Amino acid sequence: VESPSDLFSARTREGVGDALSEILAFAGATDLISFSGGFPDPATFPGETLADLLRELIRAGDPSPFQYSPTRGLPGPLDYVSERIERMDGRRPDQAELLITSGSIEALELVGKTFLDPFDLVVVEGPTYLGAIMAFRSFQARVLAVPMDADGGLRIDVLANLLETGARPKLVYTIPDHQNPAGVSMSAERRTALVGLARSRGFLIVEDVAYRELGFTDEIVPSLWSMAPDVVVQAGTFSKTFFPGVRLGWAAGPEVVIEKLVTAKQNTDQCAAPLGQRLLEGYGRAGHLDKQIVGARELYRRRADLLLGAMGKYLPEEVSWTSPAGGFFTWLTLPDGMDSVDLAREALADRVAFVPGRPFFPDGRGRTNIRLAFSRVEDEDIDEGVRRLGALLQRHWIEEGG
Ligand SMILES: Cc1ncc(COP(=O)(O)O)c(C=O)c1O
Repeated sequence: VESPSDLFSARTREGVGDALSEILAFAGATDLISFSGGFPDPATFPGETLADLLRELIRAGDPSPFQYSPTRGLPGPLDYVSERIERMDGRRPDQAELLITSGSIEALELVGKTFLDPFDLVVVEGPTYLGAIMAFRSFQARVLAVPMDADGGLRIDVLANLLETGARPKLVYTIPDHQNPAGVSMSAERRTALVGLARSRGFLIVEDVAYRELGFTDEIVPSLWSMAPDVVVQAGTFSKTFFPGVRLGWAAGPEVVIEKLVTAKQNTDQCAAPLGQRLLEGYGRAGHLDKQIVGARELYRRRADLLLGAMGKYLPEEVSWTSPAGGFFTWLTLPDGMDSVDLAREALADRVAFVPGRPFFPDGRGRTNIRLAFSRVEDEDIDEGVRRLGALLQRHWIEEGG
């Protein structure tokens, strides 16, 4: 053994890609206009109210915020999360159907750990959240992307054909509301069709609802989990609504599944931090979280409008993009032959940042795509940021003789 790296497991040697930490590395930069990370705006974070809540918790002499909690979560916070889910989805998870996790990324990890053997097939949307690709790959699963369209999200017809030709996925992972990175949503008809396929073909749907509560209008489509709690595990997060530093999310699903996720969680972190659980419950029950979400939706809607307006003004007409009705992202498609990885690197010299499309696909596609996150760019920087991007694209377009 010459180096400890000779001892790495096969799955570590195979690697899952490290695109996420690359993105996070740029996320802190302040001297450029960054459309990179899918970060909530700090303006939405709780302020003094949270300090008051913490003081109250300590004064009350309740040890639960400071003690280990049951792996599934503390009873009060579990009850609060169930209520929220019931309000959003019209169905309340039973006690045995719910687990509080350390962010939704942990829920995905626990699902992977519970279901995936090497070479198992997982179908995802192409493009999709790259943390999910990494989570499934870390269990040596094969990850296959099915395309989406702007009209209704995941192409269920393509998935059905794939199943017809013998593909046997264990999991189908989808982000049906205001998808990351594509900024599109799954239509009600396709949701019904997907649930039908899951039941007839025997796979589990993993529904990631990270942006479900961040629609720009009150229009909302039934969640897959509410339609089919027998074949869907819903992974949710408080990162985009409360704040990411609290690292809280949930998994709701069939009792037999949740029971195994709880077991799996016993040797990841044993329990999601109880202090955060109690703060969430207190903040939520006092109505602060709902107010915070109202403000956040307004902020992100305004930013999306500004971004769409600026793109219309500055981007060459050969470039197309999605028009999000919620969430943090729009997805750009450039003319054939362009390479967004090169562009992203060059853009840094122009002091503008975005994520190239490649890491969002498991198969190397995405060279001609760009994800722009509008969630954490100051209103007044959006126009200038897009102007810089437009100038960069024009330059390439001309150089490459487009
Ligand atoms: C679709 C999606 N799922 C999950 C996550 C992870 O969220 P959490 O902070 O809860 O782990 C993100 C965060 O960017 C996301 O965009």
